Amino acid sequence: MTKIKAFVFDAYGTLFDVHSVITLCDSLFPGCGTPLSQLWRAKQLEYTWLRSLMGRYVDFTEITLEALEYACKVLHLNLDAQKSAQLMGAYNTLTLYPDARDALAALAEYKLAILSNGSPRMLDPLVKHAGLTASLTAVISADAVKIFKPDPRVYQLAPDKLGVDKSEIGFVSSNYWDAAGAKSFGFRVFWINRAGAQADALGMQPDHVLSKLTELVSHAA
Ligand code: LAC
Repeated sequence: MTKIKAFVFDAYGTLFDVHSVITLCDSLFPGCGTPLSQLWRAKQLEYTWLRSLMGRYVDFTEITLEALEYACKVLHLNLDAQKSAQLMGAYNTLTLYPDARDALAALAEYKLAILSNGSPRMLDPLVKHAGLTASLTAVISADAVKIFKPDPRVYQLAPDKLGVDKSEIGFVSSNYWDAAGAKSFGFRVFWINRAGAQADALGMQPDHVLSKLTELVSHAA
């Protein structure tokens, strides 16, 4: 196998826990934190794929807001402007998974980057809040090509930006659809399966299946 020169990480669900918004969801809508967070995330992803297929791109901030509004309507929750701003703001301070900081520190000899569907206006405050700015060579957003993962044009941004061949990039995601897209593109793929999820039947197998990010270190060679 080609030696890895760079590790590229998905953001939401991989480095950052999207469901850390449950606490705020639950305090604004008591008893509904978990269903709201789950429907919000599911619709957020679905809208990225639908808009990509329709050729009707809006950035991930817009998508996240539209998904929030949809989820609140379905769950009969009254989302006023203040609650909406609070919940959208929570995306700038999502919890970094405990294994993420350790893994990034242990892999410091490699080029490290984020490649995310997130918009720069979401990713920049998030990365800053988590104190990761100095650890990363680049924070790459799908916004540069106005389409979302798993479109290959988004994955191509990583070799272009980092100046390494795609076969030398270890791509790391907890989202199976993203791991499959990255494998289809030609990266060496690490699927972080923290929760013992079922792999999707997409005909694409990741090269490695790990249960936490710190396990990357022993597979890095
Ligand atoms: C990301 C989300 C969609 O690209 O997981 O960071």
